[in-house]
Amino acid sequence: MRLCLSVLVVVFGVVSLNAFEASAAGSAAVGKVLATTWCSSCHLVSSEQQTATTEAPPFESVAQRSDDEIAALALFLADPHPPMPQMSLTRQEIQDLLAYIASLK
Ligand code: HEC
Repeated sequence: MRLCLSVLVVVFGVVSLNAFEASAAGSAAVGKVLATTWCSSCHLVSSEQQTATTEAPPFESVAQRSDDEIAALALFLADPHPPMPQMSLTRQEIQDLLAYIASLK
């Protein structure tokens, strides 16, 4: 019985670790939904979008930056950039947004 329990603990540990790794990497699909919801009033977030209202850089042009430069944007996005309102993005949301931007290369 005790052995059975520890096997369960190990299996659960491995499964939850995998889930964590998958989410820590950021999901481009979730990022697209976030970008469409929160960023598209100013940014062109995808080629499907026709208009944006400010001089904010289109995400397709941000995607041309190097992987390191895109990763560095996590810090930039942790604080709002004027005129972007305070959105209090979580770390996970930031990773999802950056995964989406990187997917536009
Ligand atoms: C109210 C308008 C507005 C909203 C909403 C907005 N932005 Fe921006 N963003 C701008 C403007 C204007 C710039 C260019 C000026 C600057 O870099 O600060 C910019 C610049 C950027 C840049 C380029 C920064 C750089 O290093 O050049 C990124 C990346 C970015 N925004 C991401 C986002 C994301 C992701 C969202 C949604 C969560 C978002 N923005 C929402 C207006 C906005």
